[in-house]
Amino acid sequence: MPSRRRQIYEGKAKILFEGPEPGTLVQYFKDDATAFNAQKKAVIDGKGVLNNRISEHIFTCLNEMGIPTHFIRRLNMREQLVRKVDIIPLEVIVRNVAAGSFSKRYGVPEGSPLPRSVIEFCVKNDELGDPPVSEDVLTAYGWASPPELDEIMQLSLRINDFLCGMFYGIGIRLIDFKLEFGRLIENDQLRILLADEISPDSCRLWDIKTGNKLDKDRFRQDLGGVADAYREVALRLGILPENGNGDHTHNQIVH
Ligand code: TMP
Ligand code: ASP
Repeated sequence: MPSRRRQIYEGKAKILFEGPEPGTLVQYFKDDATAFNAQKKAVIDGKGVLNNRISEHIFTCLNEMGIPTHFIRRLNMREQLVRKVDIIPLEVIVRNVAAGSFSKRYGVPEGSPLPRSVIEFCVKNDELGDPPVSEDVLTAYGWASPPELDEIMQLSLRINDFLCGMFYGIGIRLIDFKLEFGRLIENDQLRILLADEISPDSCRLWDIKTGNKLDKDRFRQDLGGVADAYREVALRLGILPENGNGDHTHNQIVH
């Protein structure tokens, strides 16, 4: 059951509640999955528990590396305590390999490595379908200032380097992913923090040997085995006991 605290915001896959102390929130991971701007919807049993654990692991590593994030600690199976930030209304997409909307837009075959990692920005606005936005337009409207954008790009590339290495070490190719950042005033200083989550919902993860998809494209493309794929990622990261996600017991994908 979600926390009994006051609800602040409900998104497609998460709910934010008021936190126990000022300046904190409780981030609750639902089992709901949506795609194509919520035209496609389903409940994927156990997804929220897995994303909570996977995102906890990644944000903990990033915090330890000195990348500022909103993550404080995991509270239980589906909730984590985070710092309350003002979300910058952008979806920051980092791409290493062509896939998804990039392949469609530019006619680059899925799976071909990009000449270098690239960053793209979309406006975080479901009503508009999260449209791509140029740096010029987003700074003109002040959705992020030029120094904030520099900081966001530097952090995104550091996060990408870390994640590429981490996933490579467990036999997974990091194709692309989406980040969200927030602002926080601390000691009169405006800081940029990584917010939201990093999980198979927000990344494309392909098994290096087989090319199998271990991410939300399994749901988008009706490939089946969504929760099993997420569980496989968690198992390889070493954050689940063998044969379980803590909620109930499931079979693991053979690799
Ligand atoms: P795209 O190729 O569909 O633009 O997606 C790029 C990456 O961003 C991919 O890893 C999936 C992720 N993503 C989200 O997390 N949320 C979204 O709303 C979209 C469109 C993509
Ligand atoms: N845009 C999200 C995705 O496909 C979810 C949604 O649009 O409903 O990842």
